[in-house]
Amino acid sequence: MRQRSQWLAFAVSFVIVVITLGLTLLWPQGDLVFSDSDPGRLFSLLGDYQSPQLCRECHSEQFESWSQTTHANALFDPIFRTYLEQAERPGECLACHTTGYDTATGQFVLAGVTCEACHGPYRPQHPEESMTIVRSPEFCGDCHRVTLAEWQTSRHGIAAIRCIDCHEVHTQQAHAAATTNTLCAECHRPDIAEPQHQAHNGAGILCIDCHLDRPDQIPVNGHMLTAHSFTATRDNCGECHVE
Ligand code: HEC
Ligand code: HEC
Ligand code: HEC
Ligand code: HEC
Ligand code: HEC
Ligand code: HEC
Ligand code: HEC
Ligand code: HEC
Repeated sequence: MRQRSQWLAFAVSFVIVVITLGLTLLWPQGDLVFSDSDPGRLFSLLGDYQSPQLCRECHSEQFESWSQTTHANALFDPIFRTYLEQAERPGECLACHTTGYDTATGQFVLAGVTCEACHGPYRPQHPEESMTIVRSPEFCGDCHRVTLAEWQTSRHGIAAIRCIDCHEVHTQQAHAAATTNTLCAECHRPDIAEPQHQAHNGAGILCIDCHLDRPDQIPVNGHMLTAHSFTATRDNCGECHVE
């Protein structure tokens, strides 16, 4: 009897494994692919990539904001170039630092994270035909892997507060100007009752001095943790208080 149920359990798990494997291999791939083997390749390469200069003709505001950012400069950034020279497989670096990178040929179409990296290759019928806009954190996280992982475990992730709820995508800045406290105050009371908050209220200390404190790190391939769990510990009190 015992042997029979063991055999049954084995048969059932075998069937499950076969089905999952089949689904994984045969599932049709859409236009928008978030895959592990192709980081940063969000769109199929079938489209005809143009250039930010074309978008600029009609979207000068977005262009002006974007052209000042690290997205625009992601390939030519001198810090990136330094790490690129040391990389064992430099081709892998280009996947997220360029637009339209093809893993098969190692070629890319445009330098940097351009308009078309996020909105897809230009559609000749645009503006009659609209361009793609994806607003999900998973989209940003296809390149911003570390930050996505941090965010997913955070209360912001659980409450579905997205990257673009805090970041203005084209400038990359926190979307409320002046200090980031204005941003936090949109959803959180600035005068939280706990002592650590009361003590610093009005002392010119920002919420992110404690809640987005990045510990000293040695970059791995140029990348670091970005503290997007937003948890504050008491570990960093000593940065400002010696006693
Ligand atoms: C999965 C996407 C992805 C890949 C692959 C990737 N990067 Fe990056 N890289 C990013 C993102 C996103 C940032 C910006 C924020 C951050 O650090 O998380 C970044 C930032 C950097 C920076 C920091 C630039 C600065 O001015 O501080 C360096 C340096 C860098 N990358 C080097 C590399 C190298 C070298 C490789 C290949 C070994 C590589 N990257 C591969 C996504 C990627
Ligand atoms: C990092 C990804 C990213 C890049 C790069 C990017 N966009 Fe966007 N864009 C977005 C997202 C996400 C939205 C939706 C924003 C929202 O709803 O808050 C958007 C919105 C827009 C809109 C709608 C109006 C608006 O401003 O919200 C236009 C037009 C646009 N982008 C054009 C451009 C152009 C032109 C460029 C290049 C100069 C560009 N974008 C670069 C992600 C990007
Ligand atoms: C010939 C002018 C023109 C060019 C070139 C152009 N756009 Fe647009 N685009 C428009 C107009 C008009 C709209 C609708 C009004 C608006 O939202 O600004 C629009 C809307 C958009 C939107 C909002 C969503 C939508 O499609 O309605 C995005 C995103 C966008 N464009 C991205 C781009 C990108 C990226 C490029 C370059 C690859 C580009 N556009 C080139 C005229 C243009
Ligand atoms: C195609 C890959 C890619 C996508 C998609 C992408 N990013 Fe980035 N992002 C990068 C890279 C690469 C850098 C770093 C460039 C550098 O410093 O050399 C970066 C830098 C940034 C920075 C500035 C970091 C700094 O240290 O200055 C912010 C903020 C940011 N991205 C937010 C976003 C948001 C929000 C989204 C989604 C709407 C997004 N990104 C989508 C690749 C991407
Ligand atoms: C609750 C608001 C909030 C959310 C949600 C959020 N961010 Fe941020 N992020 C910030 C603030 C504030 C900064 C500090 C930058 C500043 O001072 O302008 C920052 C900084 C960054 C940086 C620069 C980090 C560095 O080390 O230089 C990157 C990259 C970034 N965010 C990407 C993302 C991505 C990708 C997501 C979504 C997965 C996201 N952020 C979600 C508020 C947020
Ligand atoms: C768009 C709204 C929004 C913005 C902007 C925002 N938050 Fe939040 N935050 C939330 C929500 C919603 C939660 C989840 C609350 C819960 O789980 O009860 C949260 C949770 C948190 C938590 C965890 C609270 C806990 O109970 O553990 C911290 C810490 C936090 N936010 C800090 C910040 C900081 C710092 C900023 C500014 C950089 C910020 N938030 C900006 C909406 C926001
Ligand atoms: C001096 C450091 C420090 C500063 C500045 C600070 N916090 Fe905190 N905060 C903490 C610590 C420590 C905790 C408790 C640990 C935790 O929950 O992450 C906390 C907890 C929180 C919580 C969760 C507890 C609750 O009452 O819901 C929120 C939300 C929060 N902080 C938001 C903010 C906002 C918004 C600001 C800016 C106005 C801010 N914090 C400034 C250190 C700080
Ligand atoms: C970014 C710097 C900074 C950080 C980080 C920081 N503080 Fe402060 N703290 C200050 C400043 C500035 C003041 C106001 C000036 C003063 O009274 O020393 C202050 C005041 C205080 C006070 C009131 C002191 C008094 O004599 O009235 C207490 C208590 C305090 N902090 C505790 C903490 C704790 C606990 C943490 C860690 C969760 C922390 N601080 C993290 C900068 C900081």
